[in-house]
Amino acid sequence: MAILLVFFLTIITTVSAIPTTAPAKSDSFTPPDNYLLDCGSSSQTTLPDRRIFSSDSTSSQYLKYGGREIAIVDQSADVPLPIYKSAKVFDAEATYSFHITNTGWHWVRLHFFPIRNNEFKLQQTKFTVVAADSLVLLHEYGPKEMEMQEYLMNVTSERLNLRFSANKDSPAFINAIEVVSAPDMLITDNSDALFPVGQKVDGMTKYSFQKMYRLNVGGPTIGPGNDTLGRTWNSDEKFLKSAAMAKNVSIAPSVVTYLEGGSPLIAPPTVYASLMEMGASDTIAPNFNITWEFDLDHAYPHLVRLHFCDIISKSLNELYFNVYVGGKIAISALDLSTVANGLAVAYYKDVFVKANMVSKPFLVQVGPLNEPMGTKNAILNGLEILRMNNLVNSLDGEFGADGRSTYGPSRGTVAAVGFAMMFGAFAGLGAMAVKWQKRPQDWQKKNSFSSWLLPLHAGDASYTQSSKTSLGSKKSAFHSSTMGLGRYLSFSELQDATKNWDSNSVVGVGGFGNVYFGVLDDGTKVAVKRGNPQSEQGINEFQTELQMLSKLRHRHLVSLIGYCDENSEMILVYEYMEHGPLRDHLYGKNLPTLSWNQRLEICIGAARGLHYLHTGAATAIIHRDVKTTNILLDENFIAKMADFGLSKDVGMGEAHVSTAVKGSFGYLDPEYFRKQQLTDKSDVYSFGVVLLEVLCARAAINPSLPREQVNLAEWALQWKRRGLLDKIIDPSLVDQIKPESLNTFAEAAEKCLSEYGVDRPTMGDVLWNLEYALQLQDQGKTEDGGSGLALANGAPLAPTVDNRPVITQAQGNQNSAQVQIIEEHSGTAMLAQFANLNGR
Ligand SMILES: *[C@@H]1O[C@H](CO)[C@@H](O)[C@H](O)[C@H]1NC(C)=O
Ligand SMILES: *[C@@H]1O[C@H](CO)[C@@H](O)[C@H](O)[C@H]1NC(C)=O
Ligand SMILES: *[C@@H]1O[C@H](CO)[C@@H](O)[C@H](O)[C@H]1NC(C)=O
Ligand SMILES: *[C@@H]1O[C@H](CO)[C@@H](O)[C@H](O)[C@H]1NC(C)=O
Repeated sequence: MAILLVFFLTIITTVSAIPTTAPAKSDSFTPPDNYLLDCGSSSQTTLPDRRIFSSDSTSSQYLKYGGREIAIVDQSADVPLPIYKSAKVFDAEATYSFHITNTGWHWVRLHFFPIRNNEFKLQQTKFTVVAADSLVLLHEYGPKEMEMQEYLMNVTSERLNLRFSANKDSPAFINAIEVVSAPDMLITDNSDALFPVGQKVDGMTKYSFQKMYRLNVGGPTIGPGNDTLGRTWNSDEKFLKSAAMAKNVSIAPSVVTYLEGGSPLIAPPTVYASLMEMGASDTIAPNFNITWEFDLDHAYPHLVRLHFCDIISKSLNELYFNVYVGGKIAISALDLSTVANGLAVAYYKDVFVKANMVSKPFLVQVGPLNEPMGTKNAILNGLEILRMNNLVNSLDGEFGADGRSTYGPSRGTVAAVGFAMMFGAFAGLGAMAVKWQKRPQDWQKKNSFSSWLLPLHAGDASYTQSSKTSLGSKKSAFHSSTMGLGRYLSFSELQDATKNWDSNSVVGVGGFGNVYFGVLDDGTKVAVKRGNPQSEQGINEFQTELQMLSKLRHRHLVSLIGYCDENSEMILVYEYMEHGPLRDHLYGKNLPTLSWNQRLEICIGAARGLHYLHTGAATAIIHRDVKTTNILLDENFIAKMADFGLSKDVGMGEAHVSTAVKGSFGYLDPEYFRKQQLTDKSDVYSFGVVLLEVLCARAAINPSLPREQVNLAEWALQWKRRGLLDKIIDPSLVDQIKPESLNTFAEAAEKCLSEYGVDRPTMGDVLWNLEYALQLQDQGKTEDGGSGLALANGAPLAPTVDNRPVITQAQGNQNSAQVQIIEEHSGTAMLAQFANLNGR
């Protein structure tokens, strides 16, 4: 009897050692909306899995169609399911419309099979399918064989329309349609970013998804009849890169349990009951990955869902392994015993893969840890890869339902739609609206450039004309153009100045080399840019910079002190900018925050520099890389434009130059991108982004933010147009910024960001408005370092002259010079990034 009691006790403790897991909840889900249509069929069709598809001819309430009703049927077609024996063909636009009882996630499954017939060549058609009037499902689509496209979308209105765009020459067709409610739990709002690892991404429920792959790893294909949600889980065999490296294992599905809060709706027990493990895991030191290979389009972000269930371990905490997605670590040392709280417990993990992380081929891998701990093995039970819509709300191609392209002009469509849904109607600017100020005619005269020009090389007026040609060959670049280049510095002099190129002196790293902090013999602090002669691009940018700087001298442009070309070195020496890039003072570096007045002064300085570039020299010069890292601050926080490596001359009388698109993502003028034609208005656009960055203290592009916030220009303009910009400005400004000043500033930023260059102001106009914003801020202030200008009768005064009191920061910061010149641009790399990020 005593023995028996002990025996019972043991059982009880064993059982309770697997806490919080629950037996599989009822895996049934009754969809509130469940439309199954067999298009073109005259009667209802029952599938082998017992699902019943009704005929769409009797259910004309679904179809709105102006053309003639064309049903084609081929009873002899060799197809696996009877729904493929008939189709509806449209030679004009047709819309299926479904009443939605419960908004939220819905499956939309479209079945296509180009049935042979006498009238239409269905294998040669190309048509477009749009859902909910805004989401492109298929673009110029022409299925050649049997295909099923499956989507998961969050339907937010009472009707779901599926619009087929066809015409006489290219009819559209459809064999069967499923519109079925899906449980809300299927997609939760956040997931883990693949990169940077550990970062959470939210906003998932705002996306629409298309199934790319859904695999029952290590097991057979599971058809719609064996999955409560009508999904198909294919066998992974075809995708396994080296079959010999993997071995399948399976158990009875009834053994699989689910975590509290988990559900068989995520994936049925049959998926978790089979897996692939390492093929030779029992050899002495197995060290390889099991690899599955997929073909994905890197124009879209993707959601990768990995399903795991440890059905191979004999005891807890035996198995640890790594999971890689797209060649990057996605889960390091996954310990299923801990995360799933037991053996044979279902567990899944979502990984969000940004478009630019989608490699070709796209690999999903599992492999053992490189440590002597645990068993050397790795497993995977199931895998889903879903495509997510791009910026123009398309799952197929660069064009949105409104015809707009991911390449602009309006990359803001999606965000705009989101906002419209959230707030119903736009609030309008209301009483806060300020009229855009045109600067007075005589303004230019009062602000002549001459006062700002530094008298560095008087008498070399003819130099500007000759410099360009003299830079024709790399070798002679320096000697022949030394006139405008300030001092010649010997290599040893610079070696001393930089403590023999001490790595601790590096203040910036750029595409073509490093930038060092140095002190010349006479105590002058300098920034020394040492080129890497190996870099062809570096040489080009180096020459451009040299050419530009040699003819430019301005208080708000970083100036060149000297150069060195000994031993085929390419070294430029600039004045040292004590406080480094503007961006560091806005965010990310924890430097003391700048006051609104300081920010205005800085923007005004940078605008002056650009205005001079555009209009002050013999030919207009377009900077091409205006951004907060290229605006440097000296010891007095005077702003100077830097980095002329991409700059371009626009000859006399020319309105633009045609050129490959270069610049930095987030600052690129959409019109320039479209037309590949560069004008000074491209700089104005970028400067508009700078203004917003200054106002909101955040990056131009921040991919880790929710989707509608990623692009600062789009996001801020949405708020601006609703008159709520003050809600998203840098919190540290809230108490000091005057509403009129904010409005004038915001108005200037918005103008700069106009879609078309012709609508954007000149830098002169921008400058004038910034000056005005400063006056409005200083209004009524006559002491305390204000500029002392009062506003007479509300009329704009002539802007201040350039002798404002020097601004000093409350606390000097010794380390602010850590990175002085950051050069992130490098034309092609940035472009590639742009193309990829479009998917975001
Ligand atoms: C669907 O989208 C709406 C609007 O973005 C959101 O409020 C809702 O929570 C989403 N539904 C689900 C099930 O995620
Ligand atoms: C799917 O269900 C059918 C019965 O409907 C059954 O015969 C078959 O074995 C099931 N397949 C799987 C993989 O569970
Ligand atoms: C492994 O897969 C093959 C082919 O699908 C199947 O015949 C076999 O039964 C599977 N073995 C196990 C242990 O599941
Ligand atoms: C497994 O794959 C990852 C990512 O592709 C790679 O970094 C790692 O070296 C591979 N491990 C082995 C053992 O081959």
